[in-house]
Amino acid sequence: MLSVDIITIFPEFFREVVEFGIVRRARNAGLVEIAAHDLRQWTTDKHHMVDDRPFGGGDGMVLKPEPIFAAVEALTGVSKRDELPQGKRVVLLTPQGRVFDQAVAQELIDSSSQLVFVCGRYEGVDERVADALITDEISIGDYVLSGGEPAALVVIDALVRLLPGALGSETSAVFESFTEGLLDYPHYTRPPEFRGMKVPDVLLSGNHAEIERWRREAALDKTRRNRPDLLK
Ligand code: 6GU
Repeated sequence: MLSVDIITIFPEFFREVVEFGIVRRARNAGLVEIAAHDLRQWTTDKHHMVDDRPFGGGDGMVLKPEPIFAAVEALTGVSKRDELPQGKRVVLLTPQGRVFDQAVAQELIDSSSQLVFVCGRYEGVDERVADALITDEISIGDYVLSGGEPAALVVIDALVRLLPGALGSETSAVFESFTEGLLDYPHYTRPPEFRGMKVPDVLLSGNHAEIERWRREAALDKTRRNRPDLLK
């Protein structure tokens, strides 16, 4: 059982999404437990302040360290990265992180029993969080989101479908895009002809060797056109 805890100022953002699709199935099957926690519950001042102005000046607000340290301590039992038991990871979602991909997803799944996601917000998070608490800083790509919440959803979805038993068949994640370094091959279903557009004959031929060859070529074509960087 993988335990996922999300620390956020928008816990409602996660409530519905984890109720659908593969994530919902995995939760119902007892493969994963997902809980979103309101960062404000770990504030101690009467205004429940989670952010403050940046030292050194500049625009925007910075998430304060105290509530985040308290939240991680409540959820993991410790408030220092070096004291985390094996299998517990504390992940900060930030555009300054290393870029998430299928290999990072697999690595997190293979090595974690509990994942705590800290959603960055505003102009940033006090750096002492990254220095002393965070095991992994992760970004989902080279663009700026207004917060880490959508990124956490993306990462959680990618992780949950890698849990053994989360997909219909245990092997279905093995042949997908990226697992073999290529984009997925094109798929077709009925009807064999739609508005004059035909399904490639080879897919109707029943010749499995030929079908395999066609799929490999089509995956290479698609990768060359849309993601030439993957072929380097
Ligand atoms: Cl994890 N957070 C934010 N705020 N923006 C992002 C991101 C994360 N990943 C890509 N852009």
